[in-house]
Amino acid sequence: MSHVVGIDLGTTHSLVAALDSAGRPNLLTNRLGKRLTPSVVGLDAEGRLHVGESAREQLLVHPERTIAEVKRRMGRDLPVTLGDRRYSPTEISALILRALREDAERALGGAVTEAVVTVPAYFSDAQRQATKDAGELAGLKVERLLNEPTAAALAYGVNHLDAEQYVLVYDLGGGTFDVSVLEMFQGVLDVKASAGNNQLGGSDFDQALAAWLGAEFERAHGVSLAGNLAAQVRLKAAAEAAKIALTSVEATPVIIPFLAQGRGGSPASLEVEVTRARFDALITDLVRSTLEPMESALKDAKLSKKSIAEVVLVGGSSRVPLVRRLVAEYFGREPRDGVHPDEAVALGAALQAGLKTGAVSAAHGIMITDVCPFTLGVEVQATVGRERVGGVFSPLIPRNTTVPVSRTETFATTADGQRAVEIRVFQGEARLVKDNLLLDAYTVEGVPPGRAGAEKVAVTFTYDINGILDVTTRVVSTGKEATLVVDKRSQRLGPEQRLEAKERLAREWGAAPVSATPLSAPVPVAPPVASPEADADALLAAATERIATAPANVRPRLESLCNALREARAKNDRVTAARLDAELTDLLFDLG
Ligand SMILES: Nc1ncnc2c1ncn2[C@@H]1O[C@H](COP(=O)(O)OP(=O)(O)OP(=O)(O)O)[C@@H](O)[C@H]1O
Ligand SMILES: [Mg+2]
Repeated sequence: MSHVVGIDLGTTHSLVAALDSAGRPNLLTNRLGKRLTPSVVGLDAEGRLHVGESAREQLLVHPERTIAEVKRRMGRDLPVTLGDRRYSPTEISALILRALREDAERALGGAVTEAVVTVPAYFSDAQRQATKDAGELAGLKVERLLNEPTAAALAYGVNHLDAEQYVLVYDLGGGTFDVSVLEMFQGVLDVKASAGNNQLGGSDFDQALAAWLGAEFERAHGVSLAGNLAAQVRLKAAAEAAKIALTSVEATPVIIPFLAQGRGGSPASLEVEVTRARFDALITDLVRSTLEPMESALKDAKLSKKSIAEVVLVGGSSRVPLVRRLVAEYFGREPRDGVHPDEAVALGAALQAGLKTGAVSAAHGIMITDVCPFTLGVEVQATVGRERVGGVFSPLIPRNTTVPVSRTETFATTADGQRAVEIRVFQGEARLVKDNLLLDAYTVEGVPPGRAGAEKVAVTFTYDINGILDVTTRVVSTGKEATLVVDKRSQRLGPEQRLEAKERLAREWGAAPVSATPLSAPVPVAPPVASPEADADALLAAATERIATAPANVRPRLESLCNALREARAKNDRVTAARLDAELTDLLFDLG
């Protein structure tokens, strides 16, 4: 049997979930027994590719052959160098997806060929295409691209089926920010509006703190760290650790031994204390900038903030105290922890996969709609007084229209004897196209010459549930279609190149199986053995042995976990088994 999984392909972490036999979504664990896999790819000294924990470990020592946060480059022509190799952002994402797929197959004990993959609601067309292509390169049919806040809303909604209320999902992750406003009614989740910023997240908090730490180092030692790649990655890692500490404590020391050479050439270390107040001051503007998309989404949904019954916080960065405080201030009350901030998106993706296969709606009676978060249109000339001005944006699909949607408009020629019409497609909210994003351009040739305005060209925009736009144009009188002249997705590969890239990646990956253990630092679980069965046997044996010596208050839980795991294995319910496996591993690790 082949499984359809839900994948949260995050900027910093990725997660995979699947439905269990009862139709409930569960997270799968990776080869290290963890639910979160760092979205990091590295090439080691032997030319082997690593994905996940081991790649993240080497980021600090070999930044020149390691890549993190590739999601921020998706859909853009920003190639990645790993040592002497070059990859596109799509190929790096494909390597991550391939590793996730293999881990999922291992957890589920069967082939995984299809997936629902989540993307930020505010991802552009090119970013979505790139994500879809990455799936294909990884040997996964991307059954659906699902917006991340919509996925989180599904995970929330499935536990609140009787609720009739408006909900706002605030999703601040490692690299992107999304906000969605939904109406819940009798199991129907209706997305009313989405807004966001696809280049804002916790990584920007790290950057802000790292810059301050760098300045402190310079103040203490008189040496600038600008351009020192090794020092910069260490600063950023230390900044992230300090940021996470400051979520629960008021002040934390940051010590980085031998960060760079001091003035006299001797090694110089960074030693400072960061207070939460200091950190808050550094990130206030960034956090405040999330308020505007919230306003805009509420306005588009024609709702006041008072009408929002529940604010659902998602994404690791929603844990930052200042974020919670500003959101609470904005709504005049505390947000509730309705869902697990790290896990909701992947769980929602698995639910969506279940909706597709029919496994979910039967059990839960849930349905969800979505919107296109930005306006899509074409460039036209407009008459202002007696003047004709070009460069005016004429919307075809206004933002926050429910999808899928198809709209056709006709445009007339503007000059006598005109034989061709250029159709330029833009995304954005500005009145002039120069302030919007050019997506594609088409030239419609073979227009029968005539007086200005005599001939008409019909333009049809079709925006599908994956958020991907298809444009067709036609001369009304002849039926002639246009040819694409500017393809802003030109970094997309053609079918043959895709096949070539797919085979090359599979070769590079296959020739070099990822090592299961990090290159440094011990892993808190036993290295994987040959098969999941053998793994589970070993785990059960270890756990059973531990029961006798475990503290009395833990013994019942240990026993019941062992029994439940045996039962799940006997029933061949691999998803439940995988979850229990992870719980048991965690517990054993805690027991030491
Ligand atoms: N306790 C914490 N306090 C503050 N920040 C945290 C905490 N835990 C995690 N984070 C931050 O959350 C971010 C990761 O969040 P998450 O895993 O939701 O993002 P992602 O899904 O990888 O990214 P995105 O959704 O933007 O693509 C990182 O910047 C991380 O430092
Ligand atoms: Mg995320």
